[in-house]
Amino acid sequence: MQILLGIPGGIAAYKSADLARLLANQGHRVRCILTEAGARFITPLTLSSLTAEPCYGANPDQGEWRANPSIEHIELARWAELVAVVPATADIIGKAANGLASDLLSTVLLATRAPILWAPAMNTGMWAHPAVQANLARLRSFDHAVVDPDDGILACGEEGSGKLAQVASIAEAILMHGTPKLRGLAGRRVLLTAGPTREDLDPVRTLTNRSTGTMGIELARAFRDAGAEVQLVLGGELPAPWGVETVRVRSAQEMLAACEARWAGADGLVGAAAVADQRPELVAPEKVKKGDGPETLILVRTPDILATLSAVRRPGQWILGFAAESQDHLAHAAAKLQKKGLDAVLVNDIQDGRAFGAQVNTLTPVTAQGPQAAIGPLPKAELARAVVEWWGHRLEAQKNGQ
Ligand code: CTP
Repeated sequence: MQILLGIPGGIAAYKSADLARLLANQGHRVRCILTEAGARFITPLTLSSLTAEPCYGANPDQGEWRANPSIEHIELARWAELVAVVPATADIIGKAANGLASDLLSTVLLATRAPILWAPAMNTGMWAHPAVQANLARLRSFDHAVVDPDDGILACGEEGSGKLAQVASIAEAILMHGTPKLRGLAGRRVLLTAGPTREDLDPVRTLTNRSTGTMGIELARAFRDAGAEVQLVLGGELPAPWGVETVRVRSAQEMLAACEARWAGADGLVGAAAVADQRPELVAPEKVKKGDGPETLILVRTPDILATLSAVRRPGQWILGFAAESQDHLAHAAAKLQKKGLDAVLVNDIQDGRAFGAQVNTLTPVTAQGPQAAIGPLPKAELARAVVEWWGHRLEAQKNGQ
């Protein structure tokens, strides 16, 4: 994405440097506009070094660091796929809410057609002031996004609301608002399972698998960014993605119960979880002591979540499943598609240790029409985006009767 980051003069400006670096490291192009006041807190050199792009603005004390000064506000306004103002001060919020254009940043904010996102940070009293809140309400009415500040101890020593939101959350909000929405998915409710499940043997021992849940969490982000309303049912230890309603579960049974409670209200289901196929027949209430001879663990099958929900689907609801296969993967996937009543199975070829724990992966979708073109190899975040794009376009084509 081409992200234009406006940095006005607030003490949290130093955190924008971190944000610029995070976004650039994720492969986005980031250009910064530093206002005159912003340049008192951080330097253009910091930003251009971190982003490998020019830093724009006008401050004679800082030397010449503007490119194409005559038309840059229009060029930058067109270049941006999203404009983020971080930290958004009361001053720039007030200017933009009232259509003032007195410097490069405020001019670009008026001229751009890209989505605009504000991450305010200011003293608690200023944040609570009705004038600031009224200005923000006006910006929201223009369809601008606002990442509300956190509560905490502020640079001024006061405690309360006004602390810049976490840089990682702002980065996620930028991706969410800047990613073009897919018509087949925008506004749709997607229920998604992710992560491993754990089946307890006793209070200290558990049966699980090596899935981390990374791919499922990336899929949740990608569906969210495509415009879907995602409900994530998540096992394992990884933190929940920003902006996604998440239910934490432990066992396969808990995962099924969480899904059953939400399935009727969903448009689609994505089964990315690595669900344990077996659980111990009995869960010992106390820690089991070791014995002398061979010991037997009796396992029973867990419910199949996709098959259970597929059996009660409404017309129009769709289901995507995953399969990890080490041999005859396309034939096995076709069988799974049929057996579980799915719309597509995305097959992982797990030979050579790929899939679990791997950073780069390839998925082959198998549908009722047979195997489709493979997606990847790509890093998991990009792979998730590509899968969501593929599915979103397919849904749209179906809607149009193609
Ligand atoms: N799945 C599920 N509930 C289960 C088991 C699996 O919903 N109890 C879902 C997974 O989330 C995944 C797909 O079903 O989308 C995987 O199917 P599964 O038959 O478990 O695949 P494998 O484990 O690869 O199958 P097998 O053990 O037959 O090789």
